[in-house]
Amino acid sequence: MKRTKVLHLLSAESPIEELLVKGWVRTRRDAKGFSFIEINDGSCLANLQVVADTTTPGYDMVTKLSTGSAVTIIGELVNSAGKGQKWEVQARKIEVISVAPENYPLQKKRHSDEFLRTIAHLRPRTNKYGAAFRIRSELSWAIHKFFREKGFCYLHTPILTGSDCEGAGEMFQVTAMDLKNIPKNNGRVDFEQDFFGTPANLTVSGQLSAEMFALALGEVYTFGPTFRAENSNTRRHAAEFWMVEPEMAFYELSDNMDLAEVFIKHLVLHIIEKCSEDVALFSKFVDKTLMTTLENIIQNNFVQLPYTEAIDILLKSGKTFEYKINFGTDLQSEHEKFLTEIHFKKPVIVYNYPKTIKPFYMRVNDDNKTVAAMDVLVPGIGEIIGGSQREERLDFLESRMEELGMEKAPYWWYLDSRRFGSAPHSGFGLGFERLLMLVTGISNIRDVIPFPRTPNSIEF
Ligand code: 4AD
Ligand code: MG
Repeated sequence: MKRTKVLHLLSAESPIEELLVKGWVRTRRDAKGFSFIEINDGSCLANLQVVADTTTPGYDMVTKLSTGSAVTIIGELVNSAGKGQKWEVQARKIEVISVAPENYPLQKKRHSDEFLRTIAHLRPRTNKYGAAFRIRSELSWAIHKFFREKGFCYLHTPILTGSDCEGAGEMFQVTAMDLKNIPKNNGRVDFEQDFFGTPANLTVSGQLSAEMFALALGEVYTFGPTFRAENSNTRRHAAEFWMVEPEMAFYELSDNMDLAEVFIKHLVLHIIEKCSEDVALFSKFVDKTLMTTLENIIQNNFVQLPYTEAIDILLKSGKTFEYKINFGTDLQSEHEKFLTEIHFKKPVIVYNYPKTIKPFYMRVNDDNKTVAAMDVLVPGIGEIIGGSQREERLDFLESRMEELGMEKAPYWWYLDSRRFGSAPHSGFGLGFERLLMLVTGISNIRDVIPFPRTPNSIEF
């Protein structure tokens, strides 16, 4: 007999005479002569109630079925007399696959997130984390679907790279050299003897590669892991996170901002519609304001606000911020939160940042002070997207690199794209985990990544 998943049994339209279901025991209650066993198989949040009585073959084992045990059940799907569920299974046969002993750590109904991080290998078995990772999966599909329907080409950009896209020096180096015996030349590390013959690192962004392909295929996107050795132990930074990076030829900054807005709205709506049961769990137990936040995002136009105006608002706010703000300083999380949560109470796209705080590739505006950058800020998270129109003019790009003291030679291929048929183009990067935090109300990035990597944490 073929196994049926709990999700399909619970949404059945009519009774089923014989079925096979497998899963893990969430709880067991015994009454006189029979037992109720709640089974979960991960296909959905809800459990399937199984009723077994003393005449059910295998019943002697039922009393040993502890939380976490794995079972096979053959039975009949019948209308449930119990409250809160339409269907239940009358067991005809129960087989125990394995019993989880008493020291199974997930006995209690609710554990703290901090505790569950210490058992990251078991936490997907809880309601909350099961829901979070089902949403993570659905959201990934939704991203591909969005771009596919818009005719974007899905591009796999390299994870091992020789260049630093963001220029922030936050890269993990990659080497095949023996660290106990590093080859040296004149006292310096001799990278010529390393695997690639040059220093290599894990990518911080697929953007530079994506630009090359946007200038060939028109509209592309990459979606993959990126790595940053930022030593910031915050609730929204991880050392390994996933980024979605669309890159579009012939788009200017305003087209880029519009796409970012449509994209976020589309994804939020998709999750509300497709993961309603899981989202309901988060709005009940994790963040009571979740639905209001999500509806706010779908229903309102995002504010488009030049950086200088953002600074004015912050200066006039009368608030004392931990980090002082003036023209030329980068927005810190507290400033982002003020703008999006308190002042505008909706998503805000800040654009035209001072060039001094942004990377080399952003297009310099006519004022020669600002660049065509944009950051999307959302309530509860702050910056969720960073992007820009790219500098397509070779002479501007080169002088920007010189200004920043960058060595041009390693970027010869990037500069080539500005030599041969250069064209205006734009793109952005969306932090996938930050979006997950937004749609679930989960407040720590460590809790939306299966096995998070943060400073001093790579156990699992
Ligand atoms: O603003 P960032 O640094 O932009 C770029 O890397 C561009 N090259 C993207 C592009 O234009 N194609 O990063 C983009 C987004 C941020 O807005 C944030 O959501 C997320 O990536 N992000 C992080 N998420 C988790 N942990 C970190 N350490 C993150 N750093 C950035
Ligand atoms: Mg950024």
